[in-house]
Amino acid sequence: MKLAEIQQALESELAGVHGEEALALVRARYVGKDGLITNLRKNVDFGAMTLEDKRSFGSGFNTLRDTAEGLLKAAAERIAATAHGEGLKFDFTLPSSDRRLGAIHPIVRTQIEIEDIFRSMGFTVYTGDEAVSEYENFDALNIPSDHPARDMQDTYWLENGMVLRTHTSSMQNRALRQLGAPLRAVFPGRCFRNEALDITHENTFYQLEGMMVGHDVSVANLIAVMRDFLSAVFRQEIEVRLRPGFFPFVEPGFELDFRTTLGGVRRWVELMPCGMIHPAVLRNGGLDPSRFSGFAFGLGLTRLAMLKHGVPDVRLFNKADLRVCQQFTATL
Ligand code: PHE
Repeated sequence: MKLAEIQQALESELAGVHGEEALALVRARYVGKDGLITNLRKNVDFGAMTLEDKRSFGSGFNTLRDTAEGLLKAAAERIAATAHGEGLKFDFTLPSSDRRLGAIHPIVRTQIEIEDIFRSMGFTVYTGDEAVSEYENFDALNIPSDHPARDMQDTYWLENGMVLRTHTSSMQNRALRQLGAPLRAVFPGRCFRNEALDITHENTFYQLEGMMVGHDVSVANLIAVMRDFLSAVFRQEIEVRLRPGFFPFVEPGFELDFRTTLGGVRRWVELMPCGMIHPAVLRNGGLDPSRFSGFAFGLGLTRLAMLKHGVPDVRLFNKADLRVCQQFTATL
């Protein structure tokens, strides 16, 4: 074979090579120990050649060997580039045919909706901390350490003496101190209790606290705000009623029920503890109870989301069970 033919043969073989293993075989066959090009030298009888022939053979051989190395190297680079996807005619930005959208968690959605309603009534939305001082969660709310109300709100204590808040009421003191009066604000957030778990009890749940403080805030304001708020949530006129309820940080304290036909039956549903802010709580917050009054309420966001969506077991919210989650993806 002539040198030029060898080069041509190598070129056409390399054009058909697309993998590293195939390339290694071609390399061995041309420039390996027993390769076509390598052997050219072995088969020449230098003794029978003129000096000129030797020179011309030598330069032809060297050129061919260098060209072959160059061709092999180029082929290796091409193969490596393809392996990294560079040479591929493929658009990675094209959307996949299996497109699934996530959705906002039903509790968060309920929270966003409620925040909007309160904003429209002139309330500001604040968030607080989940780990708070014992004072903020209990003492400032008129619950000293020997008060039996502490038993109902057993929680997780941190080594530094702080607690995972058992209710969003833990924001009341901070709000009074930092924002002062008059005040209209809601504080949504996650709360924790050391609970025996069942279909209505979770150790982690969401509440939304609300406060309105001013010069003449009364129970009538409380009822009006709650009725407007619930009518907006359920998109129908809602009736409310108050029953006495006890919480150390309100006086008088109430349980607010609302009348609904949810589920086809007209009935009263207990929804929200609330009341007029206790004078001691106002005082702890730096306000003079003879000048200011206000109401506070604690809405169970988790409970409201259960009611709205007919979720029978509170534990389903935290389970990440696809059969549950996927039911909410369509309603973004
Ligand atoms: N923080 C109370 C609870 O979680 C609820 C509440 C809030 C009661 C505000 C009265 C006023 O049980």
